[in-house]
Amino acid sequence: MKKAIVIGATSGIGKSLSEILIQNGYSVGVSGRRTEMLASLKDQYPDKIYCQQMDVQDASSIESKCNELVQQLGGLDVVIFSAGIGEENKLLDFSIENNVIKTNILGFVCATNWAMNFFKKQGHGHLVNISSIAGLRGNGEAPSYNATKAFQINYLEGLRLHADKSGHSIYVTDVRPGFVNTDMAKGEGLFWVAPVDKAAAQIYSAIKRKKKVVYITKRWRLIGLLLKILPYSILKKL
Ligand SMILES: NC(=O)c1ccc[n+]([C@@H]2O[C@H](COP(=O)([O-])OP(=O)(O)OC[C@H]3O[C@@H](n4cnc5c(N)ncnc54)[C@H](OP(=O)(O)O)[C@@H]3O)[C@@H](O)[C@H]2O)c1
Repeated sequence: MKKAIVIGATSGIGKSLSEILIQNGYSVGVSGRRTEMLASLKDQYPDKIYCQQMDVQDASSIESKCNELVQQLGGLDVVIFSAGIGEENKLLDFSIENNVIKTNILGFVCATNWAMNFFKKQGHGHLVNISSIAGLRGNGEAPSYNATKAFQINYLEGLRLHADKSGHSIYVTDVRPGFVNTDMAKGEGLFWVAPVDKAAAQIYSAIKRKKKVVYITKRWRLIGLLLKILPYSILKKL
């Protein structure tokens, strides 16, 4: 039986992915801050779920909490980092930017470092992160969100290079969603908003195929291509 850890499994994409993994025969270690959501997952799948309350901003606790989950699972094949926040910050309030950076960069780097070192020690594994199409360009209203997602995209490429040079069978998948119907996708001007179960099914398929980069849903690949070449003069009018 395969074993996975999902960090940020209490709602949205991470929760839906955890359920798909269970339906496909995995045991799953789930984490996030909301203990009541973790308990409800455990109630639904008592034999398949192991819970660990975790705040990724508390980087010093990530390693021991992940190690504890591995003990409970009895091994580890896949780590999915789906914890993330983003907030509009038109007034450039530093406390908001700091909060986003602590989750999307500090927590992300600490958790992915732990996963890669674990996989290197055992000689195999698969790291998956949910970044965003937002990471391809800047955003004047939520600068930290797009910038932290750009960091994740670049960092994941670095981890993939690191893994390839290690000679082990370690895979790194960068998942770049457009809009997915979760608590995070709020505000006006949203389009092509994917149901969360459809997004999670496409992500699971990409995991099975060990894709390096995947746009979710698939049509967002086109937007990704356009964003990369969009002149700044047009970007500032959007
Ligand atoms: N929805 C979209 O349109 C969209 C588009 C592109 C990318 N994404 C990315 O997809 C990922 C998942 O987001 P979602 O859409 O599924 O939204 P969501 O429902 O709000 O899920 C976010 C998850 O992150 C966890 N989390 C947040 N802060 C945390 C912390 N400090 N420590 C541990 N866990 C934390 C939350 O759990 P707790 O609150 O229980 O801690 C929750 O499980 C995010 O990285 C997001 O940037 C989403």
